[in-house]
Amino acid sequence: MKMNMKKVLAVLMVLVMAVGLMAGCGKGGDDEKARIGILQLMEHPSLNTIRESIIEGLAEAGYVDGENITIDYQNGQNDMTIMKTAAQNFVSDGCEVIIAIATPAAQAVLSETTEIPIVFAAVTDPVDAGLVDSLEAPGGNVTGTSDEVSAEMIMNLAEEITPGFKTIGALYSSGEDNSASVIAGLKKYAASKGYEVVESAVTNSSEVQQAAQYLADKVDVVYSPIDNTVASAMAVATEVFNGQKIPFYVSADSMVADGGLATYGIDYTVLGKETGAMVAKVLGGEAPADIPVEKMSDMSVYINQKTAEAIGVEFPQSVLDKAQVLGE
Ligand code: TRP
Repeated sequence: MKMNMKKVLAVLMVLVMAVGLMAGCGKGGDDEKARIGILQLMEHPSLNTIRESIIEGLAEAGYVDGENITIDYQNGQNDMTIMKTAAQNFVSDGCEVIIAIATPAAQAVLSETTEIPIVFAAVTDPVDAGLVDSLEAPGGNVTGTSDEVSAEMIMNLAEEITPGFKTIGALYSSGEDNSASVIAGLKKYAASKGYEVVESAVTNSSEVQQAAQYLADKVDVVYSPIDNTVASAMAVATEVFNGQKIPFYVSADSMVADGGLATYGIDYTVLGKETGAMVAKVLGGEAPADIPVEKMSDMSVYINQKTAEAIGVEFPQSVLDKAQVLGE
């Protein structure tokens, strides 16, 4: 089976190259390579891993940058104006597919084109973000991968590691739809359990330190959703929480590696490769409308021992048995 796929791919590659050569007769140069735009919301460790894995996934499907495709990568710098311009340029440059990494980037691209196929990566809640009609049947020109993890699953882990808390601080960005829907879930969970939620929302990463300080003075534990703004300011957030010995539960492996105490989350390398495979399908002629959004089903517990030591927490054996240790 594997060999057969490889052979099929090899034949396809030869065909693609032959077609490329023929098309090249008249024009020459770069024009025959399919142009692919990548708009990444901002640079933080998780999004960088996703981008690298998408490029790997594309290569595994036979699409290699500089050989048979041209990748135009743009960093959105967490700025809607910059992202709008980048998306407009992708459209006017005639990109065949546009890849958008993270929710606000996908929203920025969709508002510039309803025709060019868009494949998004790691959008927490694609329906809530207004990107697709449903996960099963996206409709329109958009599909992609989702990294949704409910607040409840992570708070269950919090109950296992640091039981007895009563107040939960919620640190997130008010500008990210990906965080809004998860915070709504956190409030529901807290209400059902009798916990109090204290919110502290920021609009950009320079506000994270103050928002963290506000929570550290008020709550027993802190929770952050898969929030890009918080992910990009983990150094200041963990300085505050670890300094005041507040367990900081986060939502992505990279946030644990960057000093968060623990999470229950997906593998972003797998997600990136899967996104690359979807882009390959679209390049092969499939319509995004017909490709269901993929949610990652493999999840792991990630813990940071250094953080645990800094705040005087000992992981119970039940957690150690199932966890991957990061940040050593
Ligand atoms: N899920 C986020 C979004 O929808 C993007 C994201 C991927 C992310 N990995 C992350 C955010 C790690 C914070 C930390 O925009």
